[in-house]
Order: sequence, then structure tokens, then C-alpha cells
Amino acid sequence: MMDVQVRLARAEDGEAVLAFCEHTWENQSDYIHLVWEQWLAEPEGRIFVALVNDVPVGIARVFMVSESEAWWEGLRVDRAYRGQGIARILNSQREQFLRENNVKISRCHVNSRDKVMLGMMTRRNRKIVAHYIPHKTTPISTVKSPSGSTFTQLNYRDFTCALELVKSPNFYGENNCFYVSPGAKWQELKIELFKNLIERGLVWGIKQSDRLVGLAIESSLKQKSPETFWLGYIRGTKESLPILLLELRHLAFQKKYSSIGGFFPTCELLLNFLEKGGFWKSYTGVFSLFQWDNFS
Ligand SMILES: CC(C)(COP(=O)(O)OP(=O)(O)OC[C@H]1O[C@@H](n2cnc3c(N)ncnc32)[C@H](O)[C@@H]1OP(=O)(O)O)[C@@H](O)C(=O)NCCC(=O)NCCS
Repeated sequence: MMDVQVRLARAEDGEAVLAFCEHTWENQSDYIHLVWEQWLAEPEGRIFVALVNDVPVGIARVFMVSESEAWWEGLRVDRAYRGQGIARILNSQREQFLRENNVKISRCHVNSRDKVMLGMMTRRNRKIVAHYIPHKTTPISTVKSPSGSTFTQLNYRDFTCALELVKSPNFYGENNCFYVSPGAKWQELKIELFKNLIERGLVWGIKQSDRLVGLAIESSLKQKSPETFWLGYIRGTKESLPILLLELRHLAFQKKYSSIGGFFPTCELLLNFLEKGGFWKSYTGVFSLFQWDNFS
């Protein structure tokens, strides 16, 4: 049995890590080289590195999206060392770290094509809480909304009705109350977070006769897709969603992005509107969102 050491990542691990990450998948390039520097610098994140004979052969990251919620990402093992328990060791280090820091909830997403990860999650009895399909489209230069309907950036005065819209079962779209925060990390759309997003001008809505009937929240994928205007949440009435999607495409044009996209929940009505609104699926497969309790 190999002797495997695990410690937190250091800047000097970069060369070896990025070298094995060049071969992560056969037909697809990895993104770790785009985020490595930022991942090392962010205080909310921890990258664990597995070493054999002092050489990095695997990595795994956790990122604290809030005090009680962690996002798991970046699990990679050098091809030459796969199938020897290194991912298992890295995962137990992540679990231990989260328990020691009293972080209760963990989440990660897994693509439906990723049979190894799906197997690992199932064997650990981890539950899928939602499914998402990434979509993208081009911005549009003009838009004409129906009369009586206004597209607007929400502010603190809209908070109460915006929260009602998010909580009410009478609207379509995201119904698990997750926000896909920057870097594609899911977190619960808690009241304080929602307030903060409104105050930062990241929430956009459709009002009809002064009543808020649809809203969307901006997010970003700066490193992986800087030219895309990312949405992290969308919800509204049947009537407002098609208008909201068009207005958002126009907003992306005004903000000079070359595309607009996001991970959208598999709500049938929303997926139909996306298709009719000119959005296309930008990855194959469906992403399952897993959530589990670090203490159970
Ligand atoms: C997925 C990956 C991290 C696994 O690393 P690894 O060190 O080979 O995994 P381990 O040997 O620790 O095995 C972990 C589990 O996966 C299973 N597993 C590993 N390789 C497998 C394979 N090729 N087929 C089926 N199951 C496999 C093991 O049986 C083990 O299951 P268990 O812990 O429930 O008993 C590695 O294959 C990899 O880097 N893949 C590319 C990147 C990737 O897919 N990352 C995850 C998604 S972001």
C-alpha cells in the first residue's frame, strides 16, 4: 500500500498539479489552471493536496459559501494514481475539516455522465435535491416589452415583495431556493444573502401594474467564462418568464457580454420558455445537486 500524505495546498504545488490536470479527461479540457491562483488566495476555500513521495498526485477543494454551508469541488487524481483510494483519502480529509469547523451542510454537483462520482455518492447514501441544465444564448440589441410591463433593477424597497415571490408556491422556476453563486457554487438563498444581493444591484425584476411578477439574480463565472453574463436564479409567473428572459438578453447586450447563460432548474415550464426564447443546452447531461449533513 502506498504511503499517501495530505496537507493544504501551497503555491509551489501549482506546477505538478496543473501538469496532471492537463490530462484529467480524455476529450475535454480541465479548468483548474484558470482558477488555481484564485483558489489558493480565497480565504473561504481550502485545497487539500495528496502527496506520494512528496509529489502532488491529487487535489480536492471545499469552499465555505456561508458559515454553515460548504461547496465541494475540484476533486482530481493524477491518472497514474487512480483507483488506489486517493480520492477516498482526500474526501475524508474534507469531511474531517468541515466537522472540526462545525460546518453542517455540504453540497456538490455531479454531471449525469460522471458514473464514477455518481457511484461514490450513491454508496455514501447522499441525496439529490435538484437537477440543473446549463443553457446559453446570445444577447439581443433591442427588446419590446408588452405595455404595462416594466423591467427594473430592484432595490431595498422591493425586498418584501421580492421575498414573497421567492417563497410563494404560485411562481415557476427555482423552487428549492438555491442561488448559484459566483464560480457555480450552490447556496441557500437565505434572507440575509437575498437582501445583500438586492442592495448590490444584482436582482432584476418584471413589474406589471406595479406588482412584481418575475425576478432573476446575476451571478458570474469570471475565470471559466468571463464573456458570459451568468444568471444564478430565476423565478416568475407563466406570463412574465418569457419577457424576463428577453429583457435579460437585452441587459447582457447593454453590459457588453457576448453571451448569457446559467444553470437552470429542470422545471418543465422554464425549460420550454428557455427553448422558445432561443437558449440552447450548453453542456450535455444534467447536473444533479447533492446535499448531505456532515455530522450524520
Ligand atoms: C473521480 C476520481 C477523482 C477518483 O479518484 P481515485 O483516486 O481513482 O478514486 P478512489 O480510488 O479513491 O476511489 C473512490 C471511489 O470511486 C470508485 N472508483 C474509482 N475509480 C473508478 C472507476 N474507474 N470506475 C468505477 N468506480 C471507480 C472506487 O471504487 C471508490 O468507491 P468507494 O470509495 O465507494 O469504495 C478520478 O478518477 C479523477 O480524477 N477523475 C477525473 C476528474 C473527476 O471526474 N473528478 C470528479 C468530478 S468533478
